[in-house]
Amino acid sequence: MLRIGLVGCGTHANWAVVPAIKAAAPRAALVAVADVNAQNLAKIEAGPAKRYSDHRQMIAVGGLDAVYVATLANTHADITCDALAAGLHVVCEKPMATSVEDCTRMTQAAAKARRVLAVNFETRYHAEILQIRRWIDEGHLGRVEAIHIQDFWDGHKVWGEIGARRKRLTDLAGALDCGIHKADWARYWCGGSWKNITALGRWFDEDVRFAPHIGVLGELDSGQMVTLNASFAYSAYIKPHAYSHVLTVVGSQGVINHFEDRVAPSVVRLTSEALTATHEVTATGHADVMTKLIRDLADAAEGKPIPREMARGEDGLAAQIFVEEANKQAVARR
Ligand SMILES: NC(=O)c1ccc[n+]([C@@H]2O[C@H](COP(=O)([O-])OP(=O)(O)OC[C@H]3O[C@@H](n4cnc5c(N)ncnc54)[C@H](O)[C@@H]3O)[C@@H](O)[C@H]2O)c1
Repeated sequence: MLRIGLVGCGTHANWAVVPAIKAAAPRAALVAVADVNAQNLAKIEAGPAKRYSDHRQMIAVGGLDAVYVATLANTHADITCDALAAGLHVVCEKPMATSVEDCTRMTQAAAKARRVLAVNFETRYHAEILQIRRWIDEGHLGRVEAIHIQDFWDGHKVWGEIGARRKRLTDLAGALDCGIHKADWARYWCGGSWKNITALGRWFDEDVRFAPHIGVLGELDSGQMVTLNASFAYSAYIKPHAYSHVLTVVGSQGVINHFEDRVAPSVVRLTSEALTATHEVTATGHADVMTKLIRDLADAAEGKPIPREMARGEDGLAAQIFVEEANKQAVARR
């Protein structure tokens, strides 16, 4: 059983991390929680888990196999490195950190400690993302030349408590706080390293550091051009919700399309010379797939092979290279 200590008892911890760890029983158990905010620490439904106001104290007391880091991205690096230095495995929330430099420090710390550093790119486990990977691996697309992703939603509305949380996330990464999952998909499917990244953003009068609406063009040195249009601005300033997710993979021998508007059922479709196939996709919450990642970490801690769905520090670092360059360019061109 993997004994986990959670650092950060905020929105995501309450909505997804704690339910995911509980659902991973008996492979994992939440045995301790830490938060610098006394109210959040008191409120989290962590049952008999011990509570700490400082993650260093939680680590020092012992009895842990792994730490789950669910604080804001600008604190991930120090907490992760403290846990690794104590010989613990780590799951770090995305974005892995707020700089390429910190991500590099974290991957080096994991290598030095010989511990697993997983990054929670849990959407790799979504059925349509796995299915696309299978079709590509089976060769139905021939050579993949282009990946186009549009991921537009409201990033939760701009008002109230959730609006304050949205500002915290957008100040650290803009719409790419969530768009980073999609940048990771391209590498999950095709491998390679990012190059030639360029971007433009729109701010919609929001008082945030990074663009809540961004268009990024980049390239993987494994041969694909990638466009990622990501938005937290799409219906963010009105009461009704709207969602528009369009994904297209273009290969020399076939194409894949996935469309989702959360109104009609979503389908992922392959069209190729040898095979045309359509799968209906059931919407997946964060917690369901995160449970799989936690079970995979429990296996990895016992020395079992790490599946490609479990993103590692190197994947978090690659995604940060994409995000950092795109946000830098969008800000410079504002
Ligand atoms: N994987 C996903 O799909 C997904 C979804 C949502 C959020 N997230 C990520 O989860 C992370 C947390 O987001 P959130 O919405 O819960 O933020 P939040 O602001 O609601 O909560 C952050 C919590 O961390 C605590 N904290 C800050 N510094 C700390 C420290 N040094 N030690 C201990 N606790 C500390 C805060 O007091 C707060 O309780 C972010 O990186 C975010 O991008 C990931």
